Amino acid sequence: MAGVHGADLNKHIALIGFMGAGKSTMAPIVAERLGRAAIDVDDELGVDIPALFAQGEEAFRAVEAPRTVALLAGTEPAVLALGGGSIKSDEVRDALGRYAVTVLLDVDVDTCWERVKASDRPLAQDEAAFRRLNDERRPLYGGLADAVARDVDDVVLAAAGVHVGRGSLGKLGSLVPGDGAVALVSDAHVAGIHGMDAQLALGPRLAETHELPSGEEAKTLLSLDRLWQGLRLGRSGTIAALGGGTTTDAAGYAASAYLRGVPWVPVPTSLVGQVDAAIGGKTGIDLPQGKNLVGAFHWPVRTVIDPALLETLPEAQRREGMSEVVKTGLLAGEPFWDLGDDELVRRCAAFKAGVCLRDPHDHGERKMLNLGHTFAHALEAAAGYEGVTHGRAVALGLLAALRLSGRDVDQVEELLRPEPVPVDRDRAWEALLRDKKGPLRLVLLGKDGPRWDVEVPADEVRHELDRLIA
Ligand SMILES: NC(=O)c1ccc[n+]([C@@H]2O[C@H](COP(=O)([O-])OP(=O)(O)OC[C@H]3O[C@@H](n4cnc5c(N)ncnc54)[C@H](O)[C@@H]3O)[C@@H](O)[C@H]2O)c1
Repeated sequence: MAGVHGADLNKHIALIGFMGAGKSTMAPIVAERLGRAAIDVDDELGVDIPALFAQGEEAFRAVEAPRTVALLAGTEPAVLALGGGSIKSDEVRDALGRYAVTVLLDVDVDTCWERVKASDRPLAQDEAAFRRLNDERRPLYGGLADAVARDVDDVVLAAAGVHVGRGSLGKLGSLVPGDGAVALVSDAHVAGIHGMDAQLALGPRLAETHELPSGEEAKTLLSLDRLWQGLRLGRSGTIAALGGGTTTDAAGYAASAYLRGVPWVPVPTSLVGQVDAAIGGKTGIDLPQGKNLVGAFHWPVRTVIDPALLETLPEAQRREGMSEVVKTGLLAGEPFWDLGDDELVRRCAAFKAGVCLRDPHDHGERKMLNLGHTFAHALEAAAGYEGVTHGRAVALGLLAALRLSGRDVDQVEELLRPEPVPVDRDRAWEALLRDKKGPLRLVLLGKDGPRWDVEVPADEVRHELDRLIA
């Protein structure tokens, strides 16, 4: 396990794949999403590649391999586009294992050939030879890859250690990194629905099972005390958390402190969990004084998301999640809400993963994820955390944030149908001021995308808050 956060966040992302797979094109785009530099290894060789290749492939590989290894070993975590054949070298393969999360860009050979057939690439001059080489290399790439990607979102998810796929619960035993013991911590209600599948998938790795109460009660000191006292795992073990956001928040926090930190793998089962709570490494519990007041950043070693689990989610819980989906789509400027579950979850998870990788400790742009949430928290607090769900409050909060941003609210009205809530206006205003120490700074949605820490005059904020109250 590398990196202070638990996952491999301090490693390079190395893009591998056949000629024409798009490694060089994709590297800078991925790098921007991750807030890193892009390195195209071919550009760093400092040689005329066709001329060197003319002296024989071995002469080229003799230059390429040490340079690739040096780049992998020597720079700040970056996104590297590797030469298609560089992985033939033992040294390069060894360096990838040590220094990189290796992502295979999986593109069919016909597309690759179309892209390179007119180029001066030495190994792309004859179509039959090109196809033979692809057949030869395919198993090599597959054996080396930590993840397989078809687009930029897939690479961002791989960089965050997030695996999204229908049926992935059934592969949990192999998706939990390593081969050590696993303690399965489940939401008591979800355990009755998906617990057995999780246990079977973990097979002989399953060492112990624990349950947390459903809902916010999981995030109490009492629940954590019980869990910590029940755990038997050693330091080489991993905690897997099966349930919604309350389970993953609580079990993740338990993992962050147990034996001074053990690896953990959230397996989110609610829409809120799959598009939001289980991504980004924030874990925590509540205190009587307020929600999420005790917690830690503890990035999971892997996050396993199976959209099929949403099929058993009650409609009301799905609506809770849709508020976060709409928020994410607004921030990304893409209508994620129109997608089917598999793509909706993958795209939302990738968006949040990118933001959190650029700002893992919430010092800057991660604040954008709070779009609408200042209003939501105020409404929830004014309701005494009863009768106004978080999702409903976020839907209202989005209205206020969009109005203050001078944006149209039709989409939010149509998708989430937010209804004003009957809470005390002064109590809501006081709660909002308490939530915001100093001048009122909000997340707004500008023409070029989200802006955070925008100072907004108090009377305008109060006016918009009042409009959300029945
Ligand atoms: N860490 C973060 O970054 C982050 C982000 C957003 C929210 N959160 C936290 O997440 C929590 C809310 O998460 P939530 O909305 O998932 O609530 P939850 O965990 O309470 O789950 C909601 C309900 O759905 C049930 N459920 C979950 N999956 C199911 C399934 N597949 N089938 C049937 N029932 C299922 C649960 O038993 C529960 O009753 C809050 O505590 C919030 O603070 C954390």
